[in-house]
Amino acid sequence: MSEEKAKVTVFRYNLETDTEPRYETYEVPYQDGMTVLDALMYIRQNYDSTLAVNYECRYGYCGSCSVEVNGEPTLACRAPALKSMVITPLSNVPILRDLVVDHKAIMDSLVRIRPFLERRRPLEKEPEELRPVDFSTFRIVSRCISCLCCVSKCPSFTEAKHLYAGPNLIAEVARLAFDPRDGGDRLRTAYEEGLFNCAMCGKCTEVCPYDIDIPKLIMMPMRRMTLERNIGPVKEVEDLTGLVKTTGKSLIKPPKATFLSKTPSVVRVEKPRDQVSLFLGCLFDYDFRLHNVGESAINVLRSSQIETVIPKNQVCCGLPFVLMGYMDLVKELFLKRNLQAFKDFPKMIALCAGCINTLRNWYPLLCKELGEVYKFQVFDVSEFLLKHGLETNLMGELNLKVTYHDPCELNRGAGVSTEPRRVIESIPGVQLIEMDEPDRCCGGTLKMLNPRLGYKIAGRKAKMVKKLDVDAVVTACPRCITQLSSALQMEKVRGVEVLHIVQLLDMAYKGMR
Ligand code: SF4
Ligand code: SF4
Ligand code: FES
Repeated sequence: MSEEKAKVTVFRYNLETDTEPRYETYEVPYQDGMTVLDALMYIRQNYDSTLAVNYECRYGYCGSCSVEVNGEPTLACRAPALKSMVITPLSNVPILRDLVVDHKAIMDSLVRIRPFLERRRPLEKEPEELRPVDFSTFRIVSRCISCLCCVSKCPSFTEAKHLYAGPNLIAEVARLAFDPRDGGDRLRTAYEEGLFNCAMCGKCTEVCPYDIDIPKLIMMPMRRMTLERNIGPVKEVEDLTGLVKTTGKSLIKPPKATFLSKTPSVVRVEKPRDQVSLFLGCLFDYDFRLHNVGESAINVLRSSQIETVIPKNQVCCGLPFVLMGYMDLVKELFLKRNLQAFKDFPKMIALCAGCINTLRNWYPLLCKELGEVYKFQVFDVSEFLLKHGLETNLMGELNLKVTYHDPCELNRGAGVSTEPRRVIESIPGVQLIEMDEPDRCCGGTLKMLNPRLGYKIAGRKAKMVKKLDVDAVVTACPRCITQLSSALQMEKVRGVEVLHIVQLLDMAYKGMR
């Protein structure tokens, strides 16, 4: 039997002799269990000993061997080799040669945060008494090995290094802030280093070899602690809280007619195959430019013979407060009211990615804390239709080329990424063309805290779309829709619409009527 081979394409760049980078492809004997670093070592030993690769421990502890494999950062010594892979140096970090990047600039930036214990009080006797419970978060954050995988894909750091110092640096500040022995002014430092400029996209967690959940373990509690010290967007959060208490929504101006006020509470169909409730979220209710998305959802469910219930007393899911770590407010102002509104309709579809993530992942935890039973089944519309009623034989042919943008809260938050693609590809006449980085954040969560940075992040997505020959960007989140629409306008991308997936489905069903 012939030996299996891996095709390994490697980025090569010697700054002293090359005018520009190039790629070289090598054939490497492939064996199960081999790592990316094994493949690179083979290339050095058998093809080119000048290939520059960094490594020390070869055991996932030193953080020196990080590279990108097919565009995703990883530790070369731990990542399994693929039969076809393109290996490039980490993005966002200066290149020294080939795959070796210069960690020094980022490590030097740590100096300004004083990355050492500043004792709260002088040590009088050793060892001081410490309880494990006080160190629980500290211990998780301390797993960071400074591999910079998170830095290479962080959208806020990519677009504005002067506004956001990067997840590894914030993790370092957090490590000290969570250390009960430390008395340094870590919260002010975190604020100054850009704590509120994180887009909360979760990409850092996805690529972190030690699974450090940076948004949940670091950003949320640190933001709350900072706001409680009266540092940061205190007024914005106070205003939002006041608003929610009166309107139940986290948006400023209600339109003359909200979607809920215009829509019946039950949309009946003959011989229903199923019944589902619709969780609208603030934007679909208040932003009249998005009301057609809600209408499309109702049409699509009707076409699929699904009866739709739209409880009028539903309120915001509470996501803006989740992102600031105010879980007590989420329980009081949102969870209890939504539990009441949906008590008879636990099978629900949410059209907003952020709502799905909050309802599906945070509500069960908060219900448990309240002693309430969580009985909801929360679906993204594509998930629901694939299970309960996608009637492709009733659809007309659309003749459209589209690309799909993964909302962070849906993809990394709720784990839904293949279903919308399956739905799009099942629509007659629709061709799905992937953009370079469909899962890269569009900056939508920064709309309240730093819209300029948010739009800068979205601009990169608009450029990815510009490279494609498509008629529409399809997504599944109202914030992504408004963010991408503005970015396409700013980048002068003409003739490309931004659609919620239910609008695409509605067009397909209407094509037959
Ligand atoms: S959540 Fe996104 S924006 Fe925030 S640090 Fe992680 S990668 Fe960067
Ligand atoms: S947080 Fe994770 S990905 Fe980022 S530097 Fe630390 S170990 Fe690496
Ligand atoms: S060589 Fe140390 S982490 Fe890979």
